Amino acid sequence: MIEFKNVTKAFGNMVAVDSVTFTVEKPQMIGVIGRSGAGKSTFLRLFNRLTNASSGQILVDGTDVLSLKGNAKRRWQKDCAMIFQQFNLVPRLDVVTNVMLGRLNQQGTLRSMFKIFSQRDIDDALAALDRLGLAERALQRVETMSGGQQQRVAIARGLMQQPKIILADEPIASLDPLSAEVVMGSLREIHDRDGITVMCNLHTLDTARSYCDRVIGMSQGKVVFDGAADELTPEAAREIYGAEEALNEAVTSTSISAGASARARSNPSVPGQGAGVAEANAATA
Ligand SMILES: Nc1ncnc2c1ncn2[C@@H]1O[C@H](COP(=O)(O)OP(=O)(O)OP(=O)(O)O)[C@@H](O)[C@H]1O
Ligand SMILES: [Mg+2]
Repeated sequence: MIEFKNVTKAFGNMVAVDSVTFTVEKPQMIGVIGRSGAGKSTFLRLFNRLTNASSGQILVDGTDVLSLKGNAKRRWQKDCAMIFQQFNLVPRLDVVTNVMLGRLNQQGTLRSMFKIFSQRDIDDALAALDRLGLAERALQRVETMSGGQQQRVAIARGLMQQPKIILADEPIASLDPLSAEVVMGSLREIHDRDGITVMCNLHTLDTARSYCDRVIGMSQGKVVFDGAADELTPEAAREIYGAEEALNEAVTSTSISAGASARARSNPSVPGQGAGVAEANAATA
């Protein structure tokens, strides 16, 4: 159970996140949408403790994660994996090493300083890569991979943290439509199979509709919509994006085809096992 209670973040006079309150009772796939500057990234960064809130509480199973310090804060950051638009991988290292880096914060300083991994770490990293349809690429240098592949490496690295929650800040904003589908399908599959909450900032309404159970719309730091994806009416979109933008498809829509996305959602593919992902791998290779 996750409870946001009046979570607020101000930068000087600028209130980036304004008294955000909502509850997640059971694991959900949640899309957070809103215009540029609405506060979406700040909101995720507060949750992961990359930045400190000005006030409010975020209770996760009863513990206020905003008040954690030291080791307890680091443990929370392990439980709450973060995926970024720009992947944040180490380009010159190979795929499997990048994935294993997801486990470093769980290890002693010496082991992490010298990047000493156990057989268990290696096995888990290969299993995570297999899940993401990348088992064959374990030894490839990350800088030689496509954006979509790199984002899947980043997700595999997140899985190495054995997270309770996955946060993703515009994970598909730098990807072509096909790679975007594969990445969103992977996040959906992790939610479905592992039963964990995935909270994903998305630039576009139709991606949120296609992949998420619940959509939170932000405007000027406030939650102005919170409901099921199919409750996102044109009026709700106008409130989230403003009148002009809601009518402008280029702002609220991607070129992910609605049919393909709906398919991905009703029949979540299992990367590494599903034929759909194998095809997509071939296409993005
Ligand atoms: N470190 C900071 N210092 C000052 N202001 C900040 C800082 N980080 C964010 N802001 C401001 O907070 C507001 C919300 O920013 P945020 O990055 O959370 O928006 P966003 O919804 O993620 O936008 P985008 O869609 O462009 O990524 C913006 O007005 C931004 O300028
Ligand atoms: Mg942002």
